[in-house]
Amino acid sequence: MRQPPSGMYKAGALLEHKEGNLPAHSRGTAKVGLGVSMELAVGILGTGSELPEKVLTNFDLEKMVNTSDQWITERTGIKERRQAAPHETTSTLSVKASRKALAMAGITPENLDLIICATISPDMPLPSTAALIQRDLGARACCAFDLAAACSGFLFGMTVAEQFIRNGKYKYVLVIGAEVLSRYVDYQDRKTCVIFGDGVAAAVLGPVTPPSGILASDLHTEGQHANHLYIPAGGTASPASHETVTRGDHYIKMRGNELFKVAVRNMEEVSRRVMEKAQICPNQIDLFVPHQANQRINEAVRERLGVVPEKVYSNIDRIGNTSSASIPICLDECVRSGRLKKGDLILMAAFGAGVTWGAVLMRW
Ligand code: COA
Repeated sequence: MRQPPSGMYKAGALLEHKEGNLPAHSRGTAKVGLGVSMELAVGILGTGSELPEKVLTNFDLEKMVNTSDQWITERTGIKERRQAAPHETTSTLSVKASRKALAMAGITPENLDLIICATISPDMPLPSTAALIQRDLGARACCAFDLAAACSGFLFGMTVAEQFIRNGKYKYVLVIGAEVLSRYVDYQDRKTCVIFGDGVAAAVLGPVTPPSGILASDLHTEGQHANHLYIPAGGTASPASHETVTRGDHYIKMRGNELFKVAVRNMEEVSRRVMEKAQICPNQIDLFVPHQANQRINEAVRERLGVVPEKVYSNIDRIGNTSSASIPICLDECVRSGRLKKGDLILMAAFGAGVTWGAVLMRW
């Protein structure tokens, strides 16, 4: 017999979530049955990541395009990135990462109430990659959808999940950042192929005991910069044809210089905004996890915010830019290596195509 969704809380289901000492703005109440309302905090219960085995180094790229290890290292901080094997897809890697996140959270796929897959490299235009993940995970017929916010996708997904959990609709939400960008990258375009890599990470969000949980988040999209980073063909604007394929219009096109400036300015501003909302100073942050697009962007943001270098996590040298997967891969590495400890204040900030940008501040 099908179980009732775990998001439909039974009386007493959240009774451990007592009145917390969260700032007023971050408090939520959830109806927990019998007309009882309780303070509720939303946090991450488990993380998992999955990287393809194949490593593509800067030296490999030297053989493919007119570039050098020195240029890539100096301009981006990237030394190598991962590349999916032909049989691997966004959904197959996601299922593996999700199983690890569920195991850490101590729940099963049947417990999930919602699956959000943040991706700009779906398995196919339809159905959603989230639907394929749900099927292959063996989750029940819960709500599942894709979210397109490019490199900010995981933070957008976390914030959407937070609303559903906070208002009592759902209890356990799986948020996945998943990209196989190598299928959308032109390995003859040195401006893009040196940056992007493949990878996936997942997080299970659910109710946590204050003071742990999300303290503040802030998300933005500014469509006027849409052509800074885009894939011209394959959609309704320019359906797939022999001509679009010949022109290479199914590949990522990027105006790197323009993006660089927008990224630094917006990541700094949005980080300040969430810290202000939560009345936190930069020197209180234990771990700053910026989106891994370019080491120089992250260094500029760090310096402007006044966060000391030791508190910034970076894996860009090994992983490159995996768009929506970038922040959750960092998170998973920090959790599993013990870099992130209970009670730590963590600031995450991202920007990406759209352009989109956002930040989430949480206490682990
Ligand atoms: N190898 C060697 N030379 C390269 C190169 C490569 N891979 N890519 C570009 N160049 C060349 C350019 O052709 C240019 O040559 P020119 O001066 O003869 O015209 C020169 O290097 C400088 O190019 P420029 O684009 O000004 O370099 P940059 O310092 O801005 O670095 C990026 C380029 C893409 C690394 C950088 O702009 C960036 O990271 N931008 C942000 C992109 C981003 O974050 N995208 C993802 C969003 S989530």
